Amino acid sequence: MLYSEKVFDHFRFPRNMGEIADADAIGEVGNAKCGDIMRIYLKIDNEVITDIKFQTFGCGSAIAASSMATEMVKGKRLDEALQVTNKAVVEALDGLPKNKVHCSVLVEEAIKEAINNYRKSQENKAE
Ligand code: FES
Repeated sequence: MLYSEKVFDHFRFPRNMGEIADADAIGEVGNAKCGDIMRIYLKIDNEVITDIKFQTFGCGSAIAASSMATEMVKGKRLDEALQVTNKAVVEALDGLPKNKVHCSVLVEEAIKEAINNYRKSQENKAE
């Protein structure tokens, strides 16, 4: 079988899909390989991710990886969330086909982008 049960589960019942209207930070990245787009919304309180949502114009693997990744970083501190790699997400999904691994990179990059944007906005506030 190409896809694990976990991939199917997260694809069919995605966790944390949608948007956060009053997000503290947003990160958006595109995938050069397939042209798909991923957007991550974060609510942050005291350096902790209290809520996270994702939207994607992406394939099923991107949806499953985003769903899993958002579950993994929710409740984590920003520095811990930055340590969650796409490799860890793929492992948590019991694997992805090789030609679909790049789909999981998209969500890792979008989370990093959102955190970077948050840090930048905090710096601007402090100035
Ligand atoms: Fe584009 Fe999977 S093929 S994210």
